[in-house]
Amino acid sequence: MEKILVEGGTPLRGTVDVCGAKNAALPILCATILTEYPCLIRNVPDLRDVTSTIEILRELGMHCERQLDRAISIVEENPDAHTAPYEHVRKMRASICTLGPLLARRKKAKVSMPGGCVFGLRPIDLHLKGLAALGADIRINHGYLEAEAKELRGTTIYLGGPFGSSVLGTANVMMAATLAKGTTVIEAAACEPEIADLGVFLKSMGARIEGIGTPRLVIDGVSSLRGAEHSIIPDRIEAGTFLIAGAITRGDVVVRGARIEHLTAVTDVLKQAGLKISAENDAIRVCSNGGFHPVDVTTLPYPGFPTDLQAQMMAFLSLADGISVITEKIYPDRFMHVAELARTGAKIRKEGPSAIISGVQRLSGAPVMASDLRASACLLIAGLVAQGITTVYRIYHLDRGYERIEHRLSGLGARIRREPAGENESECLD
Ligand code: EPU
Repeated sequence: MEKILVEGGTPLRGTVDVCGAKNAALPILCATILTEYPCLIRNVPDLRDVTSTIEILRELGMHCERQLDRAISIVEENPDAHTAPYEHVRKMRASICTLGPLLARRKKAKVSMPGGCVFGLRPIDLHLKGLAALGADIRINHGYLEAEAKELRGTTIYLGGPFGSSVLGTANVMMAATLAKGTTVIEAAACEPEIADLGVFLKSMGARIEGIGTPRLVIDGVSSLRGAEHSIIPDRIEAGTFLIAGAITRGDVVVRGARIEHLTAVTDVLKQAGLKISAENDAIRVCSNGGFHPVDVTTLPYPGFPTDLQAQMMAFLSLADGISVITEKIYPDRFMHVAELARTGAKIRKEGPSAIISGVQRLSGAPVMASDLRASACLLIAGLVAQGITTVYRIYHLDRGYERIEHRLSGLGARIRREPAGENESECLD
């Protein structure tokens, strides 16, 4: 177990490079199951979730090797393997993305059913509905999804759910449809850039897909896919996290490699709060003119404000000069960070799927417990400005989605370090 200690109060200054997008890399790595030929995936971030995905792929008979410069080569070794076991799936929900490719290429799949998570129920009914519509026979047996399909057949599938489209549901159904017989139309498909990146990779493998990046995907099935090379898009959530970190410290930060067109909703909120945002070549710069205005934020599917930056934005708005309201429309229970932020002096009241944030003048360093990946980032961000030392426990969550974040923040001037934590230190008692 490790912890991160941050001493707040230094404005961040300088340039930080953004890594490849975790949420594009995970489904793209799974998509390699669709071909017997070698694939080379570049710009893959060095994260715990990527390591977990590689472990699952090896379990599924894929030979994976990390190459220089964050590239991973993958080639099929044992096409008979089809089981993604609980030990791996429980570590990472994205492993559900092996279901579509396994069904399409190997005609059967046994994938442990992912459970809930700390921010609430996370059903997979839309994944199953889509795959069943393509002709898969799916049962739940002893905690496993057991699926079979002699032949997948294209059809029209509506993938909208009560909270909008499903990101990984779209990934699963799109991947399966590439090898289905005939044409599949996915209506209410997720438009997230990570899904578009998956579509681009599938096309480079020979898939026939139209409408990439739109809510209507039309996929003409082909009989086989070839190997391909692909470079993962920059991580907009990581970029947004650095922008918010620069903003809260009243600093001047350039996030190099970030695509501003993927972050319009986020830069819009920062501008409303009074930050100066500029696009410079392939970089985004944030700098502060002083105080922050309150802003109301609602999370929505892309291109709306991303739920994966909601916690970080909450830390920022807790220092605004007035009252902000954050409404969570994707995961109404994703507010575990509220109570921990309160330990640093933030004034936040939760009302249903909304949090009402009354800005305070200052935060004060405190020991805090991270509950999930983005909540950890939120607590680090608060620590960057809180007076004194903030100690963030359970930072293994951070390593799932941010590559060596403490080094990169210290490169911007933050006083931050990682230390071992005793087992008891991270214990959380009822
Ligand atoms: N939903 C359903 N039925 C389904 C699937 C989803 O009702 O079958 C609901 C969910 O409960 C939620 C909403 O639809 O209310 C959206 O969920 P979605 O399926 O889009 O989430 P996901 O694909 O499981 C991905 C990201 C998450 C991110 C969400 C939303 C990956 C690996 N994960 O999850 O990322 O929060 O989309 O944008 O791509 C993170 O990186 O920290 C993270 C949690």
